[in-house]
Amino acid sequence: MKYPDKFNSPVPSFGPIDAELLIVGLAPGLKGANFTGRPFTGDFAGDLLYSTLSKYKFAKGTYDARPDDGLELHNCRITNAVRCLPPENKPTGAEINNCRPFLISQFEEMPNLKIILALGLVAHKTVLKTCNEKISAHKFVHNTTHQMQNGLTLIDSYHCSKYNTSTKRLTEQMFHDVFETIKVSLK
Ligand code: URA
Repeated sequence: MKYPDKFNSPVPSFGPIDAELLIVGLAPGLKGANFTGRPFTGDFAGDLLYSTLSKYKFAKGTYDARPDDGLELHNCRITNAVRCLPPENKPTGAEINNCRPFLISQFEEMPNLKIILALGLVAHKTVLKTCNEKISAHKFVHNTTHQMQNGLTLIDSYHCSKYNTSTKRLTEQMFHDVFETIKVSLK
């Protein structure tokens, strides 16, 4: 085996089940969650995500890109639309559909869930489908809030990927602004 230490299995969600905020990413990254077994851990995207969670007091401890770094999430849980590493790092429609039942159970298992933060368009659409919402009724717009029929609030953000941050589609300030919106919505 080339990488005997590699996790290479469906990546479980991270964070307390009684959290009010659920962050939905895309899929485990090749060198990140697929390797480490914790969402966004070891990925470039995790650097911005976890530093922002610490700034807004959703995380405590030091993020060190390892699942045993001791980082704890508070009132926040992280999952992905797709639980396994997709071929070419791009999930197909079939993979997204196959993983939807897991996402449904995530929502149902969280007794205090209020806000879902979708990182990127795929997560946005997957959350809407999971909640039986009309996709055409909710356009993906960065830092926009959508009220859903089931009482949950969906907030959109561009994904904190290396591509989006290096092209400046998403700046650190834009990502922080989303968390300002979340904090206000949770009050
Ligand atoms: N790592 C994850 O766990 N999810 C993403 O969406 C990207 C990187």
